[in-house]
Amino acid sequence: MSDVPLVLGIETSCDETGVGIVRGHTLLADAVASSAEEHARFGGVVPEVASRAHLEAMVPTLDRACADAGVRLGDIDAIAVTSGPGLAGALLVGVAAAKALALGLGRPLYGVNHLAAHVAVDQLEHGPLPEPCLALLVSGGHSSLLLVPDVTGDVRPMGATIDDAAGEAFDKVARVLGLPFPGGPHIDRAAKGGNSAYVEFPRGLTGARDDENHRFDFSFSGLKTAVARWVEARERAGEPVPVADVAASFQEAVVDVLTRKAVRGCRQAGVDDLLLGGGVAANSRLRVVAEERCLAAGIRLRVPRPGLCTDNGAMVAALGAELVARGAEPSTLHFGADSSLPVTEVLVRG
Ligand code: KG4
Ligand code: ZN
Repeated sequence: MSDVPLVLGIETSCDETGVGIVRGHTLLADAVASSAEEHARFGGVVPEVASRAHLEAMVPTLDRACADAGVRLGDIDAIAVTSGPGLAGALLVGVAAAKALALGLGRPLYGVNHLAAHVAVDQLEHGPLPEPCLALLVSGGHSSLLLVPDVTGDVRPMGATIDDAAGEAFDKVARVLGLPFPGGPHIDRAAKGGNSAYVEFPRGLTGARDDENHRFDFSFSGLKTAVARWVEARERAGEPVPVADVAASFQEAVVDVLTRKAVRGCRQAGVDDLLLGGGVAANSRLRVVAEERCLAAGIRLRVPRPGLCTDNGAMVAALGAELVARGAEPSTLHFGADSSLPVTEVLVRG
């Protein structure tokens, strides 16, 4: 027996049903069931389909997590769940499951913020988070630059996308190029054989005037349109589309803006540690360029392994464990699913 509490985390904000179990910074189980395949033919996540899939996957995923960790439900000391942001119906399934468990087992419950969980997960791999650190969270649903003095209570937004999320841009461009959904991994793969300087695609919100109002914000909608126009023009001319070159050029534009703004954010905030998270952090080119630019700027880079970057229950458990360790007061049973939970609200009281 250990006196470090065993914490179970539940994540259902999008299309992954995740149940993770941690003890402090030690990951014991990370069971994930994804409904991505069910959304593939629609080219994006269908909320109703995702909610239904969570309902079906919740209990089997919970069972698998307990089996992987070699624990019984009765051994769990605390439960954490994503309260938001995310898809309302999808979140609701996780919140209801977590409340039922907390009530049934008589254990404290923590309703937490999905974005803070993406930051906290890195502790499972690289140990205690440097405080403060800067986090660049890029996924299909969010693109944010956050200043994190304390992941359990003080998370400050520095910038965010003003239109599409970075992953959304990858998914939409993949569609234009005839690649399957979700497009990120396919573009990543295709780009490896392409020339990233083939087309100079626009870098959103990097002009001199954007420096005033959108210094740390992102915009990927113009880039997505530019790629679509470029491909259309080629097709109209009856010429073949060089998929690898376009994928590499598009990816370079996204990676260039993300890393440039993240490094500049670190400099402005006087922070020496940058953390990457979210599904797009699995991008191989983003990892390489972030590493190069951080090295040049004297910034330490922390990137969890790809499986911990995408949505999972372990990240929620990791944040829950940190809240428990710091003596945070649990949520009541009255909090709900909040699709637009602000990033500043790490723990939802209810
Ligand atoms: O964090 P995540 O699993 O779910 C949320 O959206 O919250 O992120 C999924 C997103 C998708 O848009 C997917 O295309 C993108 O992450 N993604 C990638 C890569 N792997 C996943 N984007 C670029 N390169 C990758 N290797
Ligand atoms: Zn996410």
